[in-house]
Amino acid sequence: MNRQQLQNFLRTTDPEALELLWLTADGMRRCEVGDAIHLRGLCEISSICSRRCLYCGLRADRQIKRDRMSMSEILRAAEKAVELGYGTIVLQAGEDPALSREWVAQVIKLIKDSTDLAITLSLGEQSNETLREWRDAGADRYLLRFETSNPELYRRIHPDSKKGRNRLDQLWAMHEMGYQVGSGFMIGVPGQTENDLVNDLLALPRLPLKMIGIGPYLPHPDTPLGQHPELYLAPPEDQVVATPLLVWKVIALARLQVPKSNIPATTALAVLDEQEGRKLALQRGANVVMPNITPAAQRSLYDIYPSKGRAEAAEQTSDAMTTFDDQLKRDIASIGRTVGTGRGDALWSWKEN
Ligand code: 5AD
Repeated sequence: MNRQQLQNFLRTTDPEALELLWLTADGMRRCEVGDAIHLRGLCEISSICSRRCLYCGLRADRQIKRDRMSMSEILRAAEKAVELGYGTIVLQAGEDPALSREWVAQVIKLIKDSTDLAITLSLGEQSNETLREWRDAGADRYLLRFETSNPELYRRIHPDSKKGRNRLDQLWAMHEMGYQVGSGFMIGVPGQTENDLVNDLLALPRLPLKMIGIGPYLPHPDTPLGQHPELYLAPPEDQVVATPLLVWKVIALARLQVPKSNIPATTALAVLDEQEGRKLALQRGANVVMPNITPAAQRSLYDIYPSKGRAEAAEQTSDAMTTFDDQLKRDIASIGRTVGTGRGDALWSWKEN
């Protein structure tokens, strides 16, 4: 889709145009990746972070209680994922210096030795040496959002970006190493304009991506962006505001931009619209859900954005996790879809594109 077409869809309030967008995205999803919804168990292994991203509640400056899971806790979470029938575990954390190359490689090997799970890492910016070692240890996929395609906005909200290497370089390097690579962006970050959002969508098919994660920016009151948005906002007529409708539009457009990719209905969207967020995303282009399998104690510390706890409250204990899982599987059946079996790898070889 070209710039003008993307812009038209982002702006439209015409019910017929919207209906056309939803039907086209849902049809494309069905043709290209089928009716199965893949479930990925999300395990938040450390809430410790050395970075100070202006939007994120885990930023290093905050004096909050943080913790890191032990190897055996992570292995128990992996068993839980297997028990629930998930094909993938996602290991996510802040950039915690104590998550060393060797330690993470060991965790990957232990999970691979004891399960058939695919392993997705979401551990932030890392060196090529580290990424290669984790890949050799058995990691299958890596998630690293580019957050925004506007370099100036990117620099403003990531004050300690590493010099000489950016996230796009890392995405390409990981692709070369044989990872299935995922990326994406936030919608509604203070300073983001509609033009930026169009560029974010245009960037997707130019990157070697098999997974695309898109969610609304949710202000965290104890961060610079949450406390002083007025210092960062674009002029009112240009500033993107994340409404559920806009997020659904962007997910639908992402499906049309990159038809064969795996696209999750993100938790941030489920927080923004607790009633319909997830379900309508799945009917408007998305084909993946990432239920949280982090043990309660650690999860309550993983405070990226507010009310995350509330949307996931039902998942808190192991029993409640099972209840959440039952409900999710019922919801999936109620919209005429099936629960994915196996690892749910992306089918698409980017080079064929
Ligand atoms: N609102 C929404 N998403 C956020 N993330 C971090 N902070 C926030 C926030 N306040 C997202 C980022 C990151 C992912 C793990 O969580 O896009 O890549």
